[in-house]
Amino acid sequence: CGIVGIVGRSAVAGQVVDALRRLEYRGYDSAGIATLEGGRLERRRAEGKLSNLQIKLLQNPLSGAIGIGHTRWATHGRPNETNAHPHATEQLAVVHNGIIENFRELKAELAAEGCVFETETDTEVVAQLVSHLMRSGLGPVSAVEAALPRLRGAFALAFLFAGREDFLIGARHGAPLAIGFGDGETYLGSDALALAPFTNQITYLDEGDWTILTRDGAEIRDAAGHVVARPRQTIATQAFLVDKGNYRHFMAKEIYEQPEVVGRTFAHYVDLATGRVALPEALPFDFAKIGRISITACGTAYYAGLVAKYWFETLARLPVEIDVASETRYREPPLEKGGLTLVISQSGETADTLASLRYAKAQGQHTLAVVNVPTSTIAREASAVVPTLAGPEIGVASTKAFSCQLTVLLCLALAAGRARGTLGEAEEKRLIDELIKVPGLMAEALKREDEIEVLSREIAKARDVLYLGRGTAYPMALEGALKLKEISYIHAEGYAAGELKHGPIALIDDAVPVVVIAPHDATFEKTVSNMQEVAARGGKIVLIGDARGADAAGLDTLATLMMPDLDPVVAPIVYAVPIQLLAYHTAVVLGKDVDQPRNLAKSVTVE
Ligand code: G6P
Repeated sequence: CGIVGIVGRSAVAGQVVDALRRLEYRGYDSAGIATLEGGRLERRRAEGKLSNLQIKLLQNPLSGAIGIGHTRWATHGRPNETNAHPHATEQLAVVHNGIIENFRELKAELAAEGCVFETETDTEVVAQLVSHLMRSGLGPVSAVEAALPRLRGAFALAFLFAGREDFLIGARHGAPLAIGFGDGETYLGSDALALAPFTNQITYLDEGDWTILTRDGAEIRDAAGHVVARPRQTIATQAFLVDKGNYRHFMAKEIYEQPEVVGRTFAHYVDLATGRVALPEALPFDFAKIGRISITACGTAYYAGLVAKYWFETLARLPVEIDVASETRYREPPLEKGGLTLVISQSGETADTLASLRYAKAQGQHTLAVVNVPTSTIAREASAVVPTLAGPEIGVASTKAFSCQLTVLLCLALAAGRARGTLGEAEEKRLIDELIKVPGLMAEALKREDEIEVLSREIAKARDVLYLGRGTAYPMALEGALKLKEISYIHAEGYAAGELKHGPIALIDDAVPVVVIAPHDATFEKTVSNMQEVAARGGKIVLIGDARGADAAGLDTLATLMMPDLDPVVAPIVYAVPIQLLAYHTAVVLGKDVDQPRNLAKSVTVE
């Protein structure tokens, strides 16, 4: 969910909606706003996208100079208007991101005191709790101060009080919250991006902080109630460039940006003069002394980690254990003190990934984070950060962040190989030469778009699609299937090609396209055998490979997407392009909402 608050000089509703638009990547199940109209709390809320809320505001405008807003990704309660934020009582309105874990207990306690609840949400419990404290005689600030320690879970909150035109209160407890400073106006937002149209002067609240926001600035208090100072940063304007340009969707724009951002990212990690890896900052550990890396991440970032497992193991002979963060955090794996945990996250805010990072730190591990948002919580808490320089990624389905993650991870694997003496200088330079070619190769791959568009009309007819690959093409198959299902809603599964005969082959008939990701590498012949098995059962093969392979395979395919010749080590970065374009065009053919697929959110700050 995304939160906004503004203590402004004139009507703020337009600005609140502007900021919410920039937070829609955090969810778009419903949206709402509350302002003070002559001291009275007024709300407008709507199910679905922000545009529905805008229509309501046109029909029924708000003119208050102080307000809060919210865009929701539903956790407790259906995504309808009643459950939309802000939640309100007579005294206050509140917006909330995250989960209040003990809301049932609190609800029972408040109900016993006579509070009547209108919704099924955990947020209303916060509203009622603070109201209850105010009815018992506390002022707004003291009531929030008394309520906060009673709330368990990971959340961020913003409060607006009836009759109080002069301040808002915000609180951070496990979910990020930033303060923006303007000229006679002060802002609150889930991230700096939301506040970009108004200011680049930002202060991030620390864990447990809460703040009283007035037109002149903000007083910040820590969990113990002491007034504290937190640094003010000037956020680079580059981070604010977010529009679609001439593209129909952010996802298309982001796919096309890849040659540039991948180039920018590797230039950050490679010394072009020597042709060797050169990390901009020394790592606080030595790869030569690490016995094993534990990687943890979610979604697409997890698949980037799975590709990296192959790289670390082959190039650096460094064993890698990898798991999705929602499992790592509760499995509580034994982690050696002084070992290395690598976390990967576009947003740097994913709740499960953050929790796994904290667990690893508590075990005495070094923590290294591959993140795209440099101001994020994960970036701040990890012992070292290796950024991806993809720029803001808006499309919910990750594309350019993924290829940049792969680029950084390959550079790390090369650095590890050098440190461990498993990769000679000549081989390192040769691989860097291959990596330097990648942006050009990605641009080549983008030229297949027209063919992919034609193919997508066939894929759009399918009910199920299988993706197969071996080696690093196996995680790419998983990523290809994820991309397709998240934006086209077609059921898709990725499999290690060798596992086909152990189950999924039962699904194959002439209605099931099988996308085989097969650069011409050491396992290519084995993958060809698997393609034969598919063909023998009437399955329709889509081969994503290169000329050498396509000749060698000599199979009848539904389509062959010819990728440029390349070294198999860098293949995943280039092969990301056709799998992304295939998912993209299939979703477009089906008329789906490419940038904001149903039920998903870009940044998942709840578990
Ligand atoms: C969400 C997004 C995915 C993303 C995953 C991890 O589920 O929809 O695209 O891969 O979160 O996000 P992160 O920001 O940690 O990379």
